[in-house]
Amino acid sequence: MVYRALFDAVFRSMDPEKAHERGFVAIRAGRPVSRLVFPATRAPRRVMGLEFPHAFGLAAGFDKNARAVPGLLALGFGHVEIGTVTARAQPGNPRPRLFRLIDDRAIVNRMGFNNDGAAEVASRLHRLRRTAAGRDAVIGVNIGKTKATPADEAVADYVESARLLVPYASYLVVNVSSPNTPGLRDLQAVDSLRPLLAAVKAVADAAPGGRVPLLVKIAPDLADADVDAVADLALELGLDGISATNTTIARPQTLRTDRTVVDAAGAGGLSGPVLAERATEVLVRLRARVGDRLAIIAVGGITTPDDVRARLAAGADLVQGYTGFIYEGPAWPSRLAAATV
Ligand SMILES: Cc1cc2nc3c(=O)[nH]c(=O)nc-3n(C[C@H](O)[C@H](O)[C@H](O)COP(=O)(O)O)c2cc1C
Repeated sequence: MVYRALFDAVFRSMDPEKAHERGFVAIRAGRPVSRLVFPATRAPRRVMGLEFPHAFGLAAGFDKNARAVPGLLALGFGHVEIGTVTARAQPGNPRPRLFRLIDDRAIVNRMGFNNDGAAEVASRLHRLRRTAAGRDAVIGVNIGKTKATPADEAVADYVESARLLVPYASYLVVNVSSPNTPGLRDLQAVDSLRPLLAAVKAVADAAPGGRVPLLVKIAPDLADADVDAVADLALELGLDGISATNTTIARPQTLRTDRTVVDAAGAGGLSGPVLAERATEVLVRLRARVGDRLAIIAVGGITTPDDVRARLAAGADLVQGYTGFIYEGPAWPSRLAAATV
């Protein structure tokens, strides 16, 4: 409630990206206090051979460069998925590129994988893994394609990121579903996806500390037949799991926000509660298709403790959220974590 008042008074009128940067500073600086204030949930789950303190984690995109992992874990997230990281550092799209649809508690973003690049993030993770807070942390590493890399060199680009980052990753995610890198989502087509996933899997299998689990993250905009095709491919290649879903390029009729505001935001991925229905549908479909042969990370519109319970009941092994964190604030991770017990 304090956060809601603060959000209304300050963040609401602040440029969303500036608010994000301020929040980041607070998360890092506030870590010792967070550990005392926010109760830690212990509901251990073994997924993909990894020990998670509980099933709820932070989705990719919030901590793209792995700058705040201990602070985020101190708030109550059980794991943090960093990235998307690309082989080469890049600035992302011009600002403004992050928009709030407040009446829907939703976000539209076209960040475009702004990140420090795989080498820089790898050295940051290297240092983090040598600290007490970082050693045993469950850190997923989400990788994507450098914008300047042409489509026919995409595999080499992902492989380069995987090679640099896999020594520090608890698990690795191949992101082929962000709407803000031209052509990226075309990689979800099975003929493009097979060589990409096979090449990254070879790197993950040969990781210096032992095999690292590999997942693929898909878009909610895939047709059902394409969801099935990706699931079949993941099984065929021996992947460990699927993350479903990323943001949507759709602008559902159910949006409450005034159309002029939605249209003014422009192109980008939509996230938040409006995504829940399709993300759940994809989860249910995937679970029916793969049985217990793959892990599924459910993400998309998870906002309340009931959402967490519903997604777990629908077959998720792990659940993640991002947009809820922006609207609900620092007490949100521990509240949702408690629903995994
Ligand atoms: C501002 C923003 C940036 C994001 N960046 C990434 C990213 O870099 N990589 C990725 O795989 N997903 C990214 N996502 C998608 C989230 O990880 C998540 O899949 C999506 O937002 C749906 O979950 P939510 O409704 O809980 O936000 C981003 C989402 C937002 C809102």
